[in-house]
Amino acid sequence: MTKFYITTPIYYPSSKLHIGHSYTTVAADALARYHRRLGHETYFLTGTDEHGQKIERAAIAEGKTPIQFVDEIVAGIKELWSALHISYDDFIRTTEPRHKRVVQKIFRQLYDQGDIYKSSYEGWYCTPCETFWIEGKLKEGNLCPDCGRPVEWTKEESYFFRLSKYADRLLQHIEETDFIQPASRKNEMVSFIKQGLEDLCVSRSTVRWGIPVPIDERQTIYVWIDALSNYITALGWGTENDELYRKFWPADVHLVGKEIVRFHTIIWPCILMALGLPLPKKVFGHGWLLFGTQAEKMSKSKGNVVDPFVLIEKYGLDAVRYYLLREVPFGSDGTYTEDAFILRTNTDLANDLGNLLSRTTQMINKFAGGQVPEPDPATDDRVLAALAEQVVREYQEAMDRLELSTALAALWKLVDRANKYIDEQAPWALARDAAKAGQLRSVLYSLAESLRILAVALTPFLIHTPERIWEQLGLDPAQVRTLPWEEAIAWGGLQPGTTIRRGNPLFPRIETAKEETRVEPVTETAQAAAPAAPAAEPVEGVAQIEYDDFAKVDLRVAEIVEAERVPKADRLLRLQLSVGGERRQIVSGIAQYYAPEELIGKRIILVSNLKPKKLRGIESHGMLLAATAEDGSLSLVTLDKPNFPTGMRVK
Ligand code: MSP
Repeated sequence: MTKFYITTPIYYPSSKLHIGHSYTTVAADALARYHRRLGHETYFLTGTDEHGQKIERAAIAEGKTPIQFVDEIVAGIKELWSALHISYDDFIRTTEPRHKRVVQKIFRQLYDQGDIYKSSYEGWYCTPCETFWIEGKLKEGNLCPDCGRPVEWTKEESYFFRLSKYADRLLQHIEETDFIQPASRKNEMVSFIKQGLEDLCVSRSTVRWGIPVPIDERQTIYVWIDALSNYITALGWGTENDELYRKFWPADVHLVGKEIVRFHTIIWPCILMALGLPLPKKVFGHGWLLFGTQAEKMSKSKGNVVDPFVLIEKYGLDAVRYYLLREVPFGSDGTYTEDAFILRTNTDLANDLGNLLSRTTQMINKFAGGQVPEPDPATDDRVLAALAEQVVREYQEAMDRLELSTALAALWKLVDRANKYIDEQAPWALARDAAKAGQLRSVLYSLAESLRILAVALTPFLIHTPERIWEQLGLDPAQVRTLPWEEAIAWGGLQPGTTIRRGNPLFPRIETAKEETRVEPVTETAQAAAPAAPAAEPVEGVAQIEYDDFAKVDLRVAEIVEAERVPKADRLLRLQLSVGGERRQIVSGIAQYYAPEELIGKRIILVSNLKPKKLRGIESHGMLLAATAEDGSLSLVTLDKPNFPTGMRVK
């Protein structure tokens, strides 16, 4: 049976984890879920990296012992992983005896065979990165080349690992295989190694918080040696109980952020070579999630962290997971802004996927008596069937290359095409023509079947949505994750006659109070209601609301009595309205469609209870209704009876 062993880095419990940290873990989780879904025997490891000078100092600063300090933070990290539904198989803490014992064993073995020797270290140390630096690599002003913070001069008796001895073998391995991915990171490491590798200092005499060097209790083991070893200590290597090690090592993927690729592709493989153990098959260095318009790395010291708990609470787990995995493209960086988050959620999830389900189930209810119809072979054009097969192939290839965002983009090709297919086929028109009954059945079947397959392919990424889609299609939601993959993903699995269960929209649209949404009130409203639906059939795919929701909107008849252009805003008009004897001023984004003079005297419909808003410094007290056509033209909603009194309620 195929096995799959994937690891995340073990996290420093030194600060509250932010949404950027969650990226590595959510990505690893999606890959683990994908391999489990394929039926591979999967092991997913994460944990915490709890020793070292940085943590020792942070604990002292809070007046706590290091273990008290880490215990509290580790509990919070586990809560976060549980909120994100991270499906890890083991969580290793480097303070656990099972880890410490084996790290000491590794040190002793390397010492006994002469790969670790005693000498003295004199040089620079960056505590935040827990890294030794030679003078030549520092940035001007004695700053760490990685994090830019000041390094400290350190002079101590230490033990050294013969890294230089393994440099040639390592270089050859890196150059000849796909050990480091993506390729850009491989090139960086090759040039780093070619500059020459010095032996590595692997113990500290001035740091107490760490695993004692077994042959010299006054020293502690360098924290990166301690941390990297977790990938095998968690599997029981070097103990009597090493079944997991024998089953899962070498790791299939160490998934790490780009800044720690160096440790994983230089120090770690050399240690493994010295121990005579196989190397991990792949180290994948992903990009960062950057923050805000400045595109900075999120960090507590910069005060720009985004709390994942808050995001989950506000927008829901699946929206957060989708955003993380879609927004950071393969190998490069992505940028977080709340606007980008909202846009992604509204566009991809609420509009594209959500509406596809809503329109499909609504049409099956309306035109097929609520049951998935039998496709008609004579009229089935197989447009969606063929695309689904192609998309699933692309998705699997991308997943196998760890290109999560590409895999999602492949699925959305099907989502987009299916929405377009509804518009092209216009099932409401087919339903009016008895001769088209077969075609109608084929169209509806194709749509429902596309959604069924999409739900299966989304199981690694999303936690609740696949089940909700299957539920609405009338299928057993539990099976979306358990039905054998080949069967579940193949076209044709949906049985005609299945009774659908139309439910709530998958993702409610996130409404923002941003100015743009009010500048173009009319157009925006029309798009929000039926983004992909043709103007002729606006009911298809629109989320249903209760009458009470509608009743909250106060619509009134109003007459335009004055109209003028807003200087330097070519889309805006300032309108004065008469509403039941009262004057109202609104600013409306219709200047491209109507000249001010032609508006005077028109009786229109005003949304009168919108909160006032300033647009280009001018107060707007409401908005008017209009319809937009696909070619972008716009028509005001007016009354067909002349002189109908203004101020009247519209219901
Ligand atoms: N403790 C070390 C790893 C030791 S592994 C033997 C460490 N920990 S960390 O807590 O700083 O980082 C954990 C993971 O979070 C890393 O993969 C890191 O790249 C990732 N991220 C932290 N901030 C990030 C972003 N803003 N964006 C994406 N990932 C980032 O390094």
